[in-house]
This record gives sequence, C-alpha cells and structure tokens, in this order.
Amino acid sequence: GRELRAGEFIGSLDCGTTSTRFIVFDAHAKIICEHQAEFPQILPHAGWHEQDPETLVECMKECITKATEKLEWMGWSKESIKGIGITNQRETTLCWSRSTGKPLCNAIVWDDARTNGVVRHYETKLEEEGLEIDDDEVDAKAAEDAASGEADEPITEGVELGPGGKEAAFAEEGKVEGEGLTAMMGKAMEGLGLAGRGKPTGAKKRRKGMEGLVDVTGIRLSTYFSAIKLRWMLDHHKEVHDAHESDDLCFGTVDSWLVYNLTGGVDGGLHIMDVTNASRTLLISLRTLQWHPPLLRFFGFRQSILPRIVSSAEKYGVIHANLSLPLTGVPIAGIVGDQQAALVGNKCLQKGEAKNTYGTGSFVLFNTGSEAVRSQNGLLTTVAYQPGPNAKPVYALEGSIAVAGSAIKWLRDQMNLIEESSEMDHLAGSVKDTGGVYFVTAFSGLLAPYWDREAAGTIIGLTSYTTSAHIARATLEAVCYQTRAVLDVIEKESGVKLETLKVDGGVTNSNLAMQLQANIGGFKVSRPTMRESTALGSALLAGHALGLFGWDLTRPETLSKVNTADVHTFEPELPEKERLRKIKGWEKAVSRARAWYT
Ligand code: G3P
Repeated sequence: GRELRAGEFIGSLDCGTTSTRFIVFDAHAKIICEHQAEFPQILPHAGWHEQDPETLVECMKECITKATEKLEWMGWSKESIKGIGITNQRETTLCWSRSTGKPLCNAIVWDDARTNGVVRHYETKLEEEGLEIDDDEVDAKAAEDAASGEADEPITEGVELGPGGKEAAFAEEGKVEGEGLTAMMGKAMEGLGLAGRGKPTGAKKRRKGMEGLVDVTGIRLSTYFSAIKLRWMLDHHKEVHDAHESDDLCFGTVDSWLVYNLTGGVDGGLHIMDVTNASRTLLISLRTLQWHPPLLRFFGFRQSILPRIVSSAEKYGVIHANLSLPLTGVPIAGIVGDQQAALVGNKCLQKGEAKNTYGTGSFVLFNTGSEAVRSQNGLLTTVAYQPGPNAKPVYALEGSIAVAGSAIKWLRDQMNLIEESSEMDHLAGSVKDTGGVYFVTAFSGLLAPYWDREAAGTIIGLTSYTTSAHIARATLEAVCYQTRAVLDVIEKESGVKLETLKVDGGVTNSNLAMQLQANIGGFKVSRPTMRESTALGSALLAGHALGLFGWDLTRPETLSKVNTADVHTFEPELPEKERLRKIKGWEKAVSRARAWYT
C-alpha cells in the first residue's frame, strides 16, 4: 500500500435529530472529510416521535467508518485523528438494561408531545404538594460552598454584558408581579435552604408552584424535558418499569447512549452524561450541577438509574475494540449538547454573545458567563459548557423554538409541496409576500417565548388567491417571527439591542430564509461559509481537553485562527412600519393558535 501521511486532526460525531455525521477538522477548523447518514423517524401517532436506539448506534458506526476511509483515501493515516468530541440532539430520552446492554424501548425524541398528561399531573403536584426541600441533602455541595463563603449565589437577574456591551441590569419590567427582585431572590434562596445558613439544619420545607422548580433547575415543566419522558416510559413500558425496580435500568440522553456503546457497551461501557445535557433533564440543580435528590423523589426515580455527570471537556475513555471501528483506542474528550456546541463553534465564548441555529428546531443561545441568569419572560437558563472537571461552568439563556427545518420537511414529506428542501427558495421566492397568510408551526405546542403545550399548528389568512408558494413562504417566515420574539425578550431583559445575529444550521442554506429573517428581525444576519458550528463546538472542547493546537476555551484569543472563513451578511430591507405591521399579524395568528382548544 501507499505511505500515508501523519497529521493532527480532531473528529466530531454530531448526532442530530434527523441525521448523524462525523466530521474531521484540522487545527484551523477546516473540514478535511466527513460522512453523513440520515436515519428514519418513527411517528406512531399524532404528536409522537421516536427513534430506534440501535439505529443510532449503526449510523454512528457508519459515519466514523466511512469518514475515516475517506481520510485514508486522501492520503492521511487514521492515527492522525487524535481524539473525538461528541455532540447530540438534547432531551431525547433512552432506557437500556445494564445486564444486557440492550435498549428497553424506542427513544422518545425531544419534540414528542405525548406526555401532556404527565406534565399536567406534575403541575398539579407542584401546586398542591410543592417541591420538597431537605437541608441535609439539598445542595450538599452548595452547603459546603456556603460554609466556605463561596459560590452559592442564586440564579441572578443581572448580567454584565460584554464585550463592548453596556452593563445592564436584567429587566426591571420583567419582574414577577408585585414582587421586587431582591425579595424574590431572597425567597428563592430561602426555598433552597441557602439563605442565611451556615450549616445544614435538617429541616424539611416545601416550595410550591412552577417558580420554585425553575429556581432550582432553570427550566420548567414541559413535554420537552427528559424527566417527563422517562416518567412516561416507566409508566407505559413494563420492561422499563421492571428494570427500574430491579436496579437494572440505565437512563440516558443520546450522548450517554453513544458513549456507552463506544466505550464497550455491556463490556464495561461508561454510563455518563455531560453537564449540558444533564441541565436539560429537570433533575439537576443548576448550582451544584449534580442530581438533585428532591427532584428525584418528586418524579419517583431511583438513584441507581442515573449516569455520572461529567464536564464537557475531559478524557472520558477510549473507543473500545469490540466495535471493530477504525478508530479503536482513540480518546473521547468532549461531550456537549448540540445547541451549546453551536454556541462554542460560533466562538460566542464571552458574556453577551449570541447565536441562532436553524436545524430541525431553532435555538437562540445567549452567553451569560459564569452567572446563571433567570429570565422572567420565557427563556430557559441552561449550562452552556464546562471546559474541564474543575473548570467554572459557563451559562446561557436559551430561546427554544421547536419547529424550523422540520416544517420544511413536513411540506416535502407530508404535504408533497416540494420534492427537495432546496426547492423552497424557488417556490417561496416566486411570490413577493405571503398574501396575508401566517403559518404558526405549533406541531407540538409552542415553546419559547410562549410556552403553550396545547397551541395547535395553524395556517390562517387563506383566500382563494393563496397558492402553495404563499404557504411555503409563510413556513419560512414562521421561524423568523419566533426568532424575533425570542430576541425581543433578550433585548428587554438585557437592555442590549442586538445589531447582528450569528446564524448556522441547515435552514441557513436558504438565502431567502435569511433575508426574511433580517427583514422581520430588523437586524443584520451574519452567516459564515463554514456552517458546521455544532460539530466544531464539540471538536473545540475535545481539542481543549487534549491540549491540542493550543486551543484553550477560557482564552478566546487562542482560537483566533479557528474558523475565520468568510461571512455573508444579510441586511434588513423592510421599512420599520411594514415590519411592525407584519409582526402584529403574526402575534394575532399566534393568539388564534393558542386559543383554538378553548
Ligand atoms: O433541544 C433539541 C435540540 O438539541 C435539537 O437540535 O439541531 O436537531 O434541531 P437539532
């Protein structure tokens, strides 16, 4: 055979909602080679969305194998891949057996809405019983910290924005009605047993209502989050229930499942979850970053089912020989949820920087630095990344929009309006506006900033003049309006007006969608040529952990040569009056979508 060159590369495994890819990057984040595989979506009933866990593993193996073959074909040895990072669709929930390593049911995907009843049940429980707070165990770490006078700050409502951003207090207007900020935070601290406390007292307290839950977790009761899906599995799949009873159950998100399989599966595979994924389960405290016993009791889960929570950048283990993959022995050194990965890949590493990723759904993340900031207007507080087991976590505010690319897919696969997604620009661009049509793509309710799990998908404003082109255009506009609504909240709460939005993800291939975003948003939209920010984010974390290429995520200047590819900027082209008129129409359409069941 021919002599293969030795290089230094990082691989990134990106398991998204509809496809998996493995991308090999060099020190400047240039893509050397890649392989992508789509996998089937299982839609058994209206609102249900499942995936076959074994298929996810097969796709992962195919992507790693094929991409490595391409690398060798290009003349590089496979030993050039020094490590891999993993990034994944978040909240999607899996259950498997510890003794067999086999899945016990299909994965329930993040946008599955079957669990409305579970959410209602726990809403009532929160209102009636509240969340138990036990000083002896709540925030054991926070208690230690409190004793040492460190780091038990509550989720704050102020963030100093930078770089270049002005210092701003979060949303005076955004306060809980009738409650001052200080009073509210005081209450939150008291609820957590943290206020004025030196050492644990042993007292048990209860905090009632959704606010208490959000104070602990940063997120709310919703069909979106993993604990709710896990509860459904325990109640509806006998195998899962029995495994839970006999301590044979392993619960995990997609990162956990892939790492478990990559590191040997039933032959000693690791059972871990990175902290960004863990922050989407409803089961950790945002302060301790550990499983929170009162939450486990609230939902009725045994401790034994839980993975070990790890940071987003460390050497967790190596690829096991039993998979017969070309990368056996290569270290896995970065794990991060895909939206957080895109924040990192877009190099939004400083407070006040934001990005929007238009994938299956669309997710705006706004870096708030070392402070976990509490939104009063429908944003989530989430862990952005923790660059090492002893590193300080970075937090973000997130506006989650459930439907973006999936609406285009729906037009293609269910409505047969187009044959290929790439036809969208042609069809939607063949008319100059939507002819008054709005499409509220609430396929499984609405997430941020509306949070209405019962809102219904609604196309409104139809006339005999309406064509498929108008509907296609309204589909593209839907995600733009929702992005604008999320950014309005960020602006309101941070006091900072966003001039430019950094974007990435599949839908950003559509020039029309990006122009519509600039028009509806009233801000510039900046789209890089290299749009694989999600994969890059996990590669950067893995490189950081392995000390490769001088990458250090705590020092953004070390990434100055990374991903400096060209950027295309879309400027707003709509007069302000027209923009506001359209937005008003959208909000009206949303109110119809929300009201339909009443
Ligand atoms: O929270 C769900 C999110 O992680 C899914 O990402 O890129 O598949 O839309 P994506």
